[in-house]
Amino acid sequence: MKIDSKTGICAFVVSVAFTLLSMYLFSWLLGAIFGESSRHDMSRASSMRTNMDTSISRLVDLTFVSEDLMINILWINKPVWVNLQSINQGLAITCPYKNCRMTDNAKNIKQNSALVFSAQDELIATIHPKNKPFGQVWIFLRMEPPTRDKVRWISDPIWSKTMNWSWGYRLDSDIFRPVQTLVTRKTPPERNYIDIFKRKTKVAAWVVSNCKTQSRRVEYVEQLIRYGVPIDVIGKCSREKQKIDSNSIEALINKHYKFYLSFENSFCKDYVTEKFYSYYNLDVITIVRGGINYTQHFDGTTFINAADFKSAKALANYILLLNSDEELYIKYLKQKDRYEAKSIQAIQHETNCRLCERLNNKEKYYNLYENISKYIFKDTCYTPTDL
Ligand SMILES: *[C@@H]1O[C@H](CO)[C@@H](O)[C@H](O)[C@H]1NC(C)=O
Ligand SMILES: *[C@@H]1O[C@H](CO)[C@@H](O)[C@H](O)[C@H]1NC(C)=O
Ligand SMILES: *[C@@H]1O[C@H](CO)[C@@H](O)[C@H](O)[C@H]1NC(C)=O
Repeated sequence: MKIDSKTGICAFVVSVAFTLLSMYLFSWLLGAIFGESSRHDMSRASSMRTNMDTSISRLVDLTFVSEDLMINILWINKPVWVNLQSINQGLAITCPYKNCRMTDNAKNIKQNSALVFSAQDELIATIHPKNKPFGQVWIFLRMEPPTRDKVRWISDPIWSKTMNWSWGYRLDSDIFRPVQTLVTRKTPPERNYIDIFKRKTKVAAWVVSNCKTQSRRVEYVEQLIRYGVPIDVIGKCSREKQKIDSNSIEALINKHYKFYLSFENSFCKDYVTEKFYSYYNLDVITIVRGGINYTQHFDGTTFINAADFKSAKALANYILLLNSDEELYIKYLKQKDRYEAKSIQAIQHETNCRLCERLNNKEKYYNLYENISKYIFKDTCYTPTDL
């Protein structure tokens, strides 16, 4: 087919004009959508944050947070229990700062604002302190006390003056991350305390799977038994060495037992395990023994602390007294019910938000650990003196 050259030129001009027009329209449209958030203006970003509602359907808004405002956090040796998908969902939706994301993909280490090292997991990644990128924040996570460390790579002096922030269960951590917490209940639970006292036919239960520990808790329990407290030992340290199904155990304890022994494996500063919290919401009085200063962290009137007694014998006598004194027993339960244990998820979410808040304001939080070994190991654990 032969085309007249005039028509050809005409068609060419029209198509160029059309292309230009549509490009203009398209960029105008992009500007309208993205213009707002691509401005490097923190106050605008924060007003955006407060305007965002918390529904999942608004997740799509996050794609509009400019790349420059995103804070990427890389886990160098992520423990298996850290679930990045759910953490990132929390970071994106319900934190005051919504611009942090966590990953464990170590492809480009430099592109991350912060690195998280789990101080208690093997360090397989090839990362050397000498190559720390300028401005990057290094954070070390600790959820176990030094007595339970399996690896100690972090005590190698090559790591001195590299770690900025500690993240863990210790109160003096830069980012405090307790296993769980107790919170005040808004309304006390409806309970028939007399019925509770009457239905309990057994005295004390102890669920335990780790028998030989720094705290020598097995010996302490043996003493309590010797001084007359009937204690049912459930789990691997019991004579039957039965497997533990935690749901049915909790139901069992709630129904039949008056006391639960929450005895820690190690006597270390601020260290308390999830066992203290996971039985707290049951209708039992918890008896604690550990290295944490319980009254600094919790209302001391809501449980019995072995440290308040001269000896296992004195504690045994007190347990036996409560066991037969309905009024006194109920007084403890009521006091306990002023609080409840908050879920693990809730507390983990809060601590992730706190981490993100700090990374958004890192000039306010300068820190550098000269001697990490000193921080972690020196004067943090002690041998029990009640045996
Ligand atoms: C524990 O903490 C409480 C309250 O903060 C304090 O009064 C007490 O002296 C502390 N006990 C020990 C043994 O440090
Ligand atoms: C982190 O440590 C580096 C030195 O390795 C330092 O330059 C930087 O200011 C520190 N950042 C914070 C937030 O502490
Ligand atoms: C760091 O602290 C540990 C434990 O307190 C100590 O043994 C070590 O000598 C210290 N290292 C330096 C370089 O000061």
